[in-house]
Amino acid sequence: MYLKTTALAILAAVFVLSCSTVHDNTATGNDTNPNGSSDLAVLMNELYNEAALARQEIALGHKPRLKADAKKILTAAATEPEKVASPEYKALAGSYIESVKMLKKSSPAKATEQFKLMATACMNCHKTLCPGPTKRIQKLLAD
Ligand code: HEC
Repeated sequence: MYLKTTALAILAAVFVLSCSTVHDNTATGNDTNPNGSSDLAVLMNELYNEAALARQEIALGHKPRLKADAKKILTAAATEPEKVASPEYKALAGSYIESVKMLKKSSPAKATEQFKLMATACMNCHKTLCPGPTKRIQKLLAD
């Protein structure tokens, strides 16, 4: 009984912010955030899914399809607006957007390397500002 209550209290606490460790709803497709996910969180999940798919396409020697608009990470409404308003966020976002452009232009021979640079750009921002999803992003970088 005590354990159950504690677990619920912890869950309630971590679901408040997307950057926390446990909040992770891509696998189930269910929105576990009681307040609804922010536009930025929805976009991030889209970017994650697209990156996971691109990784497979590149491994098969195909050109990855990257349709999501990477630049939107600069304007989509976030759970913590003050975080994304920071110069640090904008700089890290700029590197990521640049890495997406490079991947789109990349030759098939360079795509694996360019993909890793892109996933590293995701990781750099997350390590600095939003550590929750880093474990999942690490999967994009695994060999
Ligand atoms: C410039 C910083 C930055 C970059 C680059 C970035 N993210 Fe994020 N990411 C965030 C922030 C901030 C949030 C929290 C969004 C919110 O809750 O509003 C987030 C949230 C997420 C989430 C959790 C979404 C949810 O359901 O709560 C995932 C997964 C994610 N990002 C994956 C990625 C992937 C994959 C990339 C690269 C393709 C990436 N991110 C690039 C800052 C970044």
